[in-house]
Amino acid sequence: MRKNLVVAIDGYSSCGKSTLAKALAKKLGFIYIDSGAMYRAVTLYFLRNHVDTGNEDAVRDALQHITLNFHSRDYESHITLNGEEVSDEIRQMYVSQRVSEVSANKLVRQEMVKQQQRMGRSENIVMDGRDIGTTVFEDAQVKFFMTADPKIRAERRFRELQSKGDTTTTLEEVFENLAHRDYADTTRAESPLTRAEDAIILDNTDLNPAEQLEFALRLVHRHMPV
Ligand code: DC
Repeated sequence: MRKNLVVAIDGYSSCGKSTLAKALAKKLGFIYIDSGAMYRAVTLYFLRNHVDTGNEDAVRDALQHITLNFHSRDYESHITLNGEEVSDEIRQMYVSQRVSEVSANKLVRQEMVKQQQRMGRSENIVMDGRDIGTTVFEDAQVKFFMTADPKIRAERRFRELQSKGDTTTTLEEVFENLAHRDYADTTRAESPLTRAEDAIILDNTDLNPAEQLEFALRLVHRHMPV
């Protein structure tokens, strides 16, 4: 039985997982880990270095040249790729468009899961992603499976991109990208996105961040001695 506490948050793309994960981590004093940022940073490296995901040797070699680190500042997760801060770059559309392909790769997943499990070995953490409650931490004490109306998700993500200065990506493109990633995430062979049997479903279509935090905290307190 693990001594440290783990909250696993899985769900579809852009349905507010990281907003909830950050808020929970802050309230509980836990470490927040954005597992999607790791797959995005690997994707960025593969794009920059023209790594062919169909070439096992090239993927294995590339993974040996990638060092990822998180630096938490006020519960905002900042990730470095070989020492370079890439937190903003990895959210750009050109990375989003390739991340499904890279994150479906077996070798990439094995390496990321290993690193994620190491991070959750002794610290109290909140980790969000697609396979946290099913694969990375099957024994997590609290698991959430988040979902929301696809149109609402696309609008939220579109506004986020715009607030970061992206004036070229259209709402339709965001919607298409989310639909594509949902399909790829749920149908891939390697640990597809699926709800763990013991995960609590949280549909936040009609909830604001404060309401969803309250809902989640109530459940966390019920399951954890915190
Ligand atoms: O959470 P996100 O949208 O930033 O994640 C980016 C991509 O990484 C997402 O399309 C699926 C993949 N991913 C994954 O396969 N497993 C995880 N644990 C987290 C993300």
